[in-house]
Amino acid sequence: MNGWSAGYVTDITYVTGWYRQQSPAMMALACLMGSVDVRLPAADDPLQVLELGCGQGFGAMILAASNPAWHVTAVDFNPAHVAAARLWAAEAELTNVTFIEADLATLAEDTASRLIPEADFVTLHGVWSWVPRSVQDGIVRLLRNKVRAGGVVHVSYNALPAWGPVLGMQRVMREAGRRLAWRSDRQAEEGLAIIQSLLAAEARQLNQSSLGQSLIGRLDKMPAAYLAHEYMNEHWQPCFMADVAGALADAKLDFVASSQLVENFPDLLLTEPQRAVVQKFEDPIMRETIKDLCVERALRHDVYVRGAQRLDPASRDAALADVRIGLNIHPDDLPLEVQMPAGKAELNPDFYQPIVRAASKGPSLIKDLLALPEIVGRRRNPAELVGMLVGLEMADLVARPESEPGTEAMRFNSVTARRFVRSENLTRVIALASRRTGAGVATSLLDLIVLERLRAGQTDMEALLRQINPDPEHVDQVRQTLDDSLNKRMSFLRGAGVF
Ligand SMILES: C[S@@+](CC[C@H](N)C(=O)[O-])C[C@H]1O[C@@H](n2cnc3c(N)ncnc32)[C@H](O)[C@@H]1O
Repeated sequence: MNGWSAGYVTDITYVTGWYRQQSPAMMALACLMGSVDVRLPAADDPLQVLELGCGQGFGAMILAASNPAWHVTAVDFNPAHVAAARLWAAEAELTNVTFIEADLATLAEDTASRLIPEADFVTLHGVWSWVPRSVQDGIVRLLRNKVRAGGVVHVSYNALPAWGPVLGMQRVMREAGRRLAWRSDRQAEEGLAIIQSLLAAEARQLNQSSLGQSLIGRLDKMPAAYLAHEYMNEHWQPCFMADVAGALADAKLDFVASSQLVENFPDLLLTEPQRAVVQKFEDPIMRETIKDLCVERALRHDVYVRGAQRLDPASRDAALADVRIGLNIHPDDLPLEVQMPAGKAELNPDFYQPIVRAASKGPSLIKDLLALPEIVGRRRNPAELVGMLVGLEMADLVARPESEPGTEAMRFNSVTARRFVRSENLTRVIALASRRTGAGVATSLLDLIVLERLRAGQTDMEALLRQINPDPEHVDQVRQTLDDSLNKRMSFLRGAGVF
């Protein structure tokens, strides 16, 4: 550690990633779901977007490349992150993104804050519960100065009580790792090895925690840089929602909803007896606090508004009916059952099948899908339709349905493809920029390679298979994945305006 990091990991850079909850359109949609009047960004709105703790800036660049009329300002205190982000943006010739190297603990009082315009949308992903109180306080002061009236803030954080049973896991992992004089990613790997051996040895607190067990099962597939930034920070501290809401109230921010859309449906999250308790309270913070006791919500994606304008039910439905979506599954792949915290939720095929068939023809308004003559039931519920399709990632929002793939997005995507293909493994899911959706479109690295081949006029996938050269026992599987990519995924990516 060094003198400027306040205990945050700085000896290895963070992994790049795109998180759809950070997109202004998803934040606005969450607000509409929560009956607060925030317009989805229109095609040419000159939005000011601010990202705090942006890492290597991938999400900020995706938003800038997808929306040339916006300006994105992104802040991080790690010069290695800011330098990498600036290089990438310069290579992609992005002129509407600015990266600022600054410490969030003091930025509100720093002259560098003059570079930050009043923001319409702000996002902080993976920052709040990983930094000390002094940084959280600095963030609140910055938000108080920089969020415009009516502006929207997304904040994600590790939440209590879900993390309660596994606080000890992080502590042992960090303590075991930091006793070694190695870089933080190596320390994290060593700490994880100790945790795995404790699980095998039936350590009671790990054995009895379903979150602990599922985390430990997943963690050894995660990049070591992710482990270091998630678990090796000195001030790592999961938080109660009520405490985050209390801190953000000083920036005049009101909690509205979750940008993890399905979490806004009590029927999907809670059993009937649990809902009966929640409904005793009108205060949303009390409701959320009770929900967090009922479900295992380890990472929260909360959306706040400064000066929330409440919508009556009819106006909310009208706004949601005007939302435009683009499908990103094949209609044959519609699941008829999904596992939710409250149990299995069924998707009525008489309702959903005609809808996904119609939506597979191109970007569609929710109100047009609800007016299809062949659907049965739930005709008047735009919130459910948009919440299920977008919330379960079967569809994305579409900002500019008529738009050609933009030059800025195409240029950014080519640079991104070149960079990722050099450095990452094929199963990694990343994202590409799209002027049509106005946000990132999730893409596997394999899709990216197929896309680059098609652009170069090559369609011979057997040649590509030979080049990938998978282990003999995986050849059929990789061939099938290539086939799906070529015959299904490419048409979604084309529909999403990625190329
Ligand atoms: C877990 S990473 C998340 C990065 C990015 N938001 C993402 O999701 O990919 C947290 C980021 O916050 C930055 N950070 C931590 N403390 C900070 C501070 N005091 N001031 C500014 N940035 C900070 C770190 O450098 C790191 O890039």
